[in-house]
Amino acid sequence: MTTLAIIGGTGLTQLSDLNILSREQLDTPYGSPSAEFVTGELNGSRIIFLARHGNPHTIAPHQINYRANIWGLKQLGVEQIVAVAAVGGITGEMAPAHIAIPDQIIDYSYGRKHTFFEDEAVTHIDFTYPYNQKLRSRLISAASAANIKISPLGTYGCTQGPRLETAAEIRRMERDGCDLVGMTGMPEAALAKELDMAYAAISVVANWAAGKSEGEITMAEIERHLHKGMANTALLLKAFVG
Ligand code: HPA
Repeated sequence: MTTLAIIGGTGLTQLSDLNILSREQLDTPYGSPSAEFVTGELNGSRIIFLARHGNPHTIAPHQINYRANIWGLKQLGVEQIVAVAAVGGITGEMAPAHIAIPDQIIDYSYGRKHTFFEDEAVTHIDFTYPYNQKLRSRLISAASAANIKISPLGTYGCTQGPRLETAAEIRRMERDGCDLVGMTGMPEAALAKELDMAYAAISVVANWAAGKSEGEITMAEIERHLHKGMANTALLLKAFVG
């Protein structure tokens, strides 16, 4: 049986429906992962859960040890990763509380430790399709089974954070073809691919991106929409593993 991991982001520090079996603190050649790896049963299936920002939520997107997180999951035998992350919505239907299963990435982040291939012969992984297509299809089917309306495609732009973007940065990202903006999708996706793990993302829209709605973006607004989006995400995940 393939081992599945769920990485939870802002708004998903714990999986409330997870029947916890064990917790494991791991060390890796790349340092410490964000939190303990929690093994448990979700809707009868065994999964491993990791809180990307730590538990409690204290690690900023640019300070997450992405390599330690992915390496730790690999060490635990994980072959598939579903990564949940809050995003800002840029285009069309990407309204607050909506869920998308993105199919493409543009990486605007910088200065992050973004590869496992540093000291050896250079390895160029193929990254044409950054997300695993089979895992994406299964997520899309699970959403349909759970009666949750999602966007089955979308380009995710990864910014450095922790600040939100300017309106002009979002206009540029839209011209580039981004539908969603987040801060944690990279290098996570590429690192998983480097270790030959199937990786797909659930993007949960917390707010309209900068300049896409009246006024400024408030944390209160983000939390309110995330609450609803994460409730649907929990249902989607249950249908996915069940
Ligand atoms: N920008 C970047 N990351 C985000 C946003 C945003 O507007 N909302 C939630 N995560």
